[in-house]
Amino acid sequence: MRRTVPILALSSAMLLLFGCGASSPSSSVTPAPEGAAYATLAEWHFFKDAPNQVPEDGVVPYDVNARLFTDYALKHRFIYLPPGKKIGYEPDEVWDFPVGTIVIKTFAYPDNVSGPPKTALGERLIETRLFIHESDGWKPYTYQWNDAQTEAKRLDVGDTVPVSWVDKDGQTRSIQYEIPSQQQCFECHGGGTTTRLLGPRTGELNRDWDYGAGPENQIDHIASLGWLDKTPPPADQRITYPEPFNRSDAPGGPAPLAERARAYVQANCAHCHSPNGNVNYKKLYLDWDSTAVAPTAADGLSLGVCKHPTSGGCGGLQYDLVPGDAEESILVCRISAVSPPAPAADMMPPLGRTIEDKEGVALVSEWIDSMAPSMCGGR
Ligand code: HEC
Ligand code: HEC
Repeated sequence: MRRTVPILALSSAMLLLFGCGASSPSSSVTPAPEGAAYATLAEWHFFKDAPNQVPEDGVVPYDVNARLFTDYALKHRFIYLPPGKKIGYEPDEVWDFPVGTIVIKTFAYPDNVSGPPKTALGERLIETRLFIHESDGWKPYTYQWNDAQTEAKRLDVGDTVPVSWVDKDGQTRSIQYEIPSQQQCFECHGGGTTTRLLGPRTGELNRDWDYGAGPENQIDHIASLGWLDKTPPPADQRITYPEPFNRSDAPGGPAPLAERARAYVQANCAHCHSPNGNVNYKKLYLDWDSTAVAPTAADGLSLGVCKHPTSGGCGGLQYDLVPGDAEESILVCRISAVSPPAPAADMMPPLGRTIEDKEGVALVSEWIDSMAPSMCGGR
C-alpha cells in the first residue's frame, strides 16, 4: 500500500502538467448549435484541406486495429474534443467522451480507374460521417461528397453511388456503394438512449500513428494532449486487438489465428452480437471478451458451437458453428452470402456491405477448421 502513494502523486503531477502545459492548440472548428447540424461539411471547419483529409489543429486522426469491412472502402477517422474537456479513459470499454465531442469518419475509394486522381490522396471521397455528442446523447449524420470533390452535403435518407476501383490483384471492381440512411446508423450504433460509438476503445486504439514526427502510440499521443482524465498504463500493458490480416509484421510476430479471427468478429459482428448489442436476444456473442471461451460443445454455446439457430437461412445447415468444419457452419455460410437487395435474410452483417469480404471469410473459415472437431448432436 505504501508504494502506491508516490506513484499516485506522480501520475496526478503528470496529469496537471499535461492539463496545463501541453494542452491542444486552439482549434477553428465551429460546432453547430445542438440539433442544427450544418447543411454542408465545410461549415464545421474540421479540415484545413478537406479533399485531402488534412485536419485542422485540434482535430486528431486515428486508426483502429480491427476494421469493419464495408466493401473495401478506405477510411479516415478523426476526433474533435471541445476545449478544456477530458475523455474518460476506459481500459476495456469504449471511452467516455464528453458532451461536445465530434467523431468524424470519411469513406473513400482509391481513384485509379478513370483518369487522373481527383485528390492528391489518389482517392475518391464518397461520404463523411459524424457522431456528435449532444446533451441528450449521440447524433449521427453523413455528408455526401460531390463528384468534383469540392463539397459534401448533408444527406439524411441514404443513397446508392456507383463506384469502381482496381483491387490489389489488379482487377477492376464495380459496386453500388450504399450510403446508409440516418435510421440505419442506429442498426449498428444502437438506438435511443443506447446510441453509442463503436471504435474508440483501448483495444482498437492501442497502435501507432504518424502525427508528423514518426510513428507514435495513438493513446500516448492523446494523453500528451491532456485529453485523458487519467494516466493510462504503459502501451504494452493495455488490451490490444491484433490486426486480423497481419500475419507477419506485428512486433514479436503475428498474433495467433484464433486471436486474429476474434478481433475480426469483434469489429464486424459484436455491435449486434454481444451481451449489450442490438441483437443480444439471439444469445450469439461475438465480442472480444465473449469469444475467449473454449470452442467446445460444453463451453462454446454463446460462440454458436453446436447451437441451433433460432433464425432460418442457410437451408440444410443445422448449427451456427461446427468446430473443425467451416463448411457445415451457418456462421460461415452467412458471412459469405450476398443476396441483393440488401438487407437480405442470409447475409451477415445484414447491412454495410454488398459484396463478400473474401479475406474475412477465409480467416473465419480457417479459424473454425482449426478447432478440435466436436460432434454436434452426435453427428
Ligand atoms: C454495419 C454497421 C454500421 C452502420 C450501418 C454504421 N456504422 Fe458507423 N461504425 C460501425 C463500426 C463497427 C465502427 C467502428 C469501427 C471503425 O471505425 O471502422 C463505426 C464507426 C463510426 C464512426 C467513428 C466513431 C465510432 O463509433 O467508432 C462514426 C463517426 C460512424 N461510425 C458514423 C456512422 C453514421 C453517421 C452512420 C449512418 C449514416 C453509421 N456510422 C452507420 C458500424 C456501422
Ligand atoms: C446490424 C446488426 C448485425 C450485425 C452487424 C451482424 N448481425 Fe448477425 N444477425 C443480426 C440479426 C438481426 C439476426 C437475426 C435475423 C436473421 O437471422 O437474419 C442475426 C442472426 C445471425 C445468425 C443466426 C444466429 C442464431 O443463432 O439464430 C448468425 C450465425 C449471425 N447472425 C452471424 C453474424 C456474423 C458472423 C456477423 C459478423 C460477420 C454478424 N452476424 C453481424 C444482425 C446482425
